[in-house]
Amino acid sequence: MGAAPKAIEPAETQVPRRQFLMWLSSVGVVGSALAAIFSTFVFMKPRATYGQPNRFRIGRPEEFPTGARIAIDTKRVCIVRDGDKLAAISTTCTHLGCIVAPSATGFHCPCHGSQFDVDGNVTGGPAPKALPWYLVTITPSGELEVDKDTEIQMGTYLSV
Ligand code: FES
Repeated sequence: MGAAPKAIEPAETQVPRRQFLMWLSSVGVVGSALAAIFSTFVFMKPRATYGQPNRFRIGRPEEFPTGARIAIDTKRVCIVRDGDKLAAISTTCTHLGCIVAPSATGFHCPCHGSQFDVDGNVTGGPAPKALPWYLVTITPSGELEVDKDTEIQMGTYLSV
């Protein structure tokens, strides 16, 4: 005859269950803490986009023939070339920010009728100040680069 099965003592079954529940609640607490920390860092990381970069390339100087006044509306800038001089003038109206268009006398704003001369000086309408000029440089690869973060004095051209 074999030995009779040993009776399981109640204390032996209770301890592992208690340990398991403690382990399970510890995992829950630690998991919640990690999730909270992770969400905090995700929240702190900025998700905003700030639009187009303010420094961009527009092509080579030979793409802008002398006498050209070429508006690049997506960049809100007008490239002006006069002989071997080249400049970038803002096409953002200084009244309420509409895009001005080159006209026979300079620039015209379609929104409220402001007028600017070829250099961007206000000649009519509600615009409070002239159109800014931006720094233009030539990159090592020979392309023109406009920096809209750097305003320069009106009438300051790049020699090309
Ligand atoms: S936005 Fe140009 S005149 Fe008002």
